Amino acid sequence: MTSEGGAAPILSVRDLKTHFFQDEGTVRAVDGASFDVPRRKTLGIVGESGCGKSVTARSILRIVERPGRIVGGSILLRRDAGNGQAGGVDLAGLDPAGYEMRQIRGGDIGLIFQEPMTSFSPVHTVGNQIIETIQLHQNVSVEAARLKATEMLHLVGIPKPERRLDEYAFQLSGGLRQRAMIAMALSCGPRILIADEPTTALDVTTQAQILDLLRHLQDREGMTIILITHNLGVVAEMCDEVVVMYLGRVVEQGPVDAIFHAPKHPYTKALLRSIPSIQATVRTELPTIAGSIPHPYNRPSGCPFHPRCPDFMPGTCDRSEPSLRPVDDNQGVSCFLYHPA
Ligand SMILES: Nc1ncnc2c1ncn2[C@@H]1O[C@H](COP(=O)(O)OP(=O)(O)OP(=O)(O)O)[C@@H](O)[C@H]1O
Ligand code: SF4
Ligand SMILES: [Mg+2]
Repeated sequence: MTSEGGAAPILSVRDLKTHFFQDEGTVRAVDGASFDVPRRKTLGIVGESGCGKSVTARSILRIVERPGRIVGGSILLRRDAGNGQAGGVDLAGLDPAGYEMRQIRGGDIGLIFQEPMTSFSPVHTVGNQIIETIQLHQNVSVEAARLKATEMLHLVGIPKPERRLDEYAFQLSGGLRQRAMIAMALSCGPRILIADEPTTALDVTTQAQILDLLRHLQDREGMTIILITHNLGVVAEMCDEVVVMYLGRVVEQGPVDAIFHAPKHPYTKALLRSIPSIQATVRTELPTIAGSIPHPYNRPSGCPFHPRCPDFMPGTCDRSEPSLRPVDDNQGVSCFLYHPA
């Protein structure tokens, strides 16, 4: 499961556990997730609502809110040490409020999410917020930061960028706000962009424009994108690789073609079963599958998917938990059908 050309993945998540400690019980939102993010590619993360996609993204950026925290695992961000040797830093081990993490957040890794209103303050202009972000990460004057902010708004296709800089987020349409958020996220040239349902709240035409923009920016900047979405059509259109999550774990990872045409895990197959063909997947929302997702306080023993699995093997699947292991050079799956217990 290495990325193309054998280059080391830019980010490797291993056995990540992020739990929320509540009076009523512990929500194991992410519970042993492992996956690799290939360099300069788009990785899609899919799975039913509540499977831990957003908490995974927030864990990488170290912005998990209380009462949640990372209780295990590692998030290795690889950096080119400049001497041909890759260095790296384990984000899970950093102080979320410390200098290094604040530089990485926004500097190395940008975030855009579904509701841009929450990422802009209502009392500051869009321009001032982008300028502030630039100055947080780069040692430049206000004038230079303003010029850069104008350039960024222009780059993301916002007309009359100088004027827009002095407006407030609520004065912009949904599509323009989403573009402005992308401009802010990209203003410091992050190597990784995490996009959590970036187009869900937008109409179909604006969705297509924003996705085009992301693709264009990726080509231009050589960015790596982690795209979290419910929309399998968007995955088919945008992604090189796919991670499938179930109950806080990764059950399958592989190239988009393999996931769509040769899925291995029974859960991945169930997700795709109701979709007649790849052509028909365009704009298809994630289908619902048989059985209900267990309550987050009561995870099943053994393989978390066993109560819903058509291939359930009594005495095996309910006893121990399968780990994510390669089935070939590109694809990994966590299921006893492929790796006997
Ligand atoms: N602040 C929180 N406090 C308690 N539980 C939380 C909190 N945030 C998330 N969770 C729980 O963690 C689990 C994973 O949530 P997460 O938001 O990552 O799901 P998701 O895969 O992004 O779902 P969706 O597709 O609906 O966005 C859910 O059971 C959710 O209820
Ligand atoms: S390990 Fe067993 S229950 Fe889990 S997905 Fe595979 S066959 Fe189904
Ligand atoms: Mg989410």
